Amino acid sequence: MLDNLPRKFGFLIINGDVTDGVARKDLGRYIVEPDQDFQIRAAVKLIEPLAKRARFTYVSKGTPYHAGLGSSADEVFAERIGAVPDEWGHFASTWRVLSVEGIDIDFSHHRSISIRNDSAPLEREIQFDAMAAELKGGRSDLIVRSHGHRYAHLNIDGELGIHTPSWSLQTSFAQMSKSPNRLISRLVGGVRVNLFPSKKNGDIQDAADYIDVLGLVYPHPRVGKSIHGGG
Ligand SMILES: [Fe+2]
Repeated sequence: MLDNLPRKFGFLIINGDVTDGVARKDLGRYIVEPDQDFQIRAAVKLIEPLAKRARFTYVSKGTPYHAGLGSSADEVFAERIGAVPDEWGHFASTWRVLSVEGIDIDFSHHRSISIRNDSAPLEREIQFDAMAAELKGGRSDLIVRSHGHRYAHLNIDGELGIHTPSWSLQTSFAQMSKSPNRLISRLVGGVRVNLFPSKKNGDIQDAADYIDVLGLVYPHPRVGKSIHGGG
């Protein structure tokens, strides 16, 4: 993946759930190592080469299921990777608006509820962006969420929202999930965003005019099929 990225770029967002956790609902099956500290060290080692290319790294808090109570694994990881703390002093934030030369990116791991259609929570988050504009110091140009753990890229009426895909392979718990339906993803990976602040005109405008969203995605291993009689 590093080959597809510039040697230096402006910022890296690790949007939560950086570790697997203990896979409680799978009784710890199928994970290589349940030790949280070990998982954090592994995550730092894996992501450090990428973080070194970024001028600034920002980290979000994921869920207790993956990141432990209070999302402590994300917080410890964030401090070790040298992430920028938020205004409350947390290295991993629950919700943050990053203003980049006049382009505002609103990112958090958590998102609105989804039953099946992954574009619905993104649309709700875009509507929430309008409701929360006064709190946030204005509307954001890009909404980034991740708890769907599936790649989605929505442009609705010129407003942009993305769900980042997961780097994790599908677990047996995910295969049995009912909401959304069995969490079957075709892709794993991340998302690259190119910003063009000079193309933003400050009026009502299609945000795609000044924000490029590119998936850095790879196929999830296929489920395949069992051949009757073996072979
Ligand atoms: Fe999550």
